[in-house]
Amino acid sequence: MSEATPAASFAASIIVPTYNEEGNVAELISRVSTALAGVHAELIIVDDSNDETPVIARALGETAAIDVTVIHRDVAEGGLGGAVVAGIRAARSNVCVVMDGDLQHPPEKIPQLLARFAQGDADVVVASRYTGGGTANGLSDQVRVAVSRLSTMVTKAMFPVRLRECSDPMTGFFLVDKTAVDWESLKPRGFKILLEMLARQPLRVAEIPFDFQARHAGESKASFTQGIRFLTQLTQLRFGRMSVFALIGALGAVANVLIMAVLTGWSVPYVLAAIVASVVTIIGNFLLIELFVFRDMKAAAGPMWMRFAKSFTFNAVEAVVRIAALYVVVETWHVSSVLATAVLLAIAFIVRYVFHSLVVYKP
Ligand code: GDD
Ligand code: MN
Repeated sequence: MSEATPAASFAASIIVPTYNEEGNVAELISRVSTALAGVHAELIIVDDSNDETPVIARALGETAAIDVTVIHRDVAEGGLGGAVVAGIRAARSNVCVVMDGDLQHPPEKIPQLLARFAQGDADVVVASRYTGGGTANGLSDQVRVAVSRLSTMVTKAMFPVRLRECSDPMTGFFLVDKTAVDWESLKPRGFKILLEMLARQPLRVAEIPFDFQARHAGESKASFTQGIRFLTQLTQLRFGRMSVFALIGALGAVANVLIMAVLTGWSVPYVLAAIVASVVTIIGNFLLIELFVFRDMKAAAGPMWMRFAKSFTFNAVEAVVRIAALYVVVETWHVSSVLATAVLLAIAFIVRYVFHSLVVYKP
């Protein structure tokens, strides 16, 4: 027997991220097996559950008609997007199909994805809710339908070239040629992994329509937090890390003024009010940049108290230096103090960003 290269030992790898899908996983394995009868395919379940999902999947995998691998992760690195990337890395075929584990993506569509890919003119085949004949009926309510439509429109407007051929960049149902994507570049692993792939490199996209189903069992993990995570991903992809940092800085400035207004309204002396407002916004700012700007860098950057100490010290020193500089500039050149403040704040913003990315989050 000749030795097959590991990446080509299957005709297709089906990758399914799961988080507490114990009510769905049996049906999933059975329908994927049936849909792919006659295709030499494997099923890779990348699981971050704390329910019985991995136990059921492993047990059924023993006897299933399809080769089943269950990767259970104790640390759910990168959440949904990270799980998909982990599955693709483990895939033993270059033809990778990604789909949800709650049967909102009908496994019976997989052969059509494979057939479209076999035409040879695409790196990615997207199963779309928004192309000829596709529907989003499974979205549980009108609010979600509107949110999905609107966010799709905004996203496409932000990447008019890269997303031109894709009507549904937020779908989690697609086929990708593993060799066409630079997986290393997908850092931080975006929440919407298809969008991340398409926005970061030029790929040839084809589409097939599909009907998005209602969830088979259990509840969606969609939430407000995930919405925020998506917005962060979008801002990062489009404008880079620095713009999210700027956005948080601007929020901090607004919060600072509001706190001052409230405290002085309660007749707290204004100097004390300014100190309280500054401390609160510095702490809030730190927590937000930990979460949304340097999330992917913090694990390698030493303990949190150390990062906080550096960040806090920098901000305090920066404020003192900036005010001293303001005095010097105004007294020396006799420019308006408002103009000088604006210029100094702009410089301070850049220095603060550089300091945080090179020193606070230094690996
Ligand atoms: N491994 C892992 N880790 N899987 C996860 C995680 C996680 O942290 N969070 C969610 N999943 C799995 C779920 O178990 C499910 O199989 C799939 O990802 C989608 O999650 P749902 O909770 O069903 O979310 P949804 O229905 O709102 O979102 C899906 O539909 C969207 C289209 O409206 C996702 O596929 C989105 O990518 C898709 O855009
Ligand atoms: Mn779902």
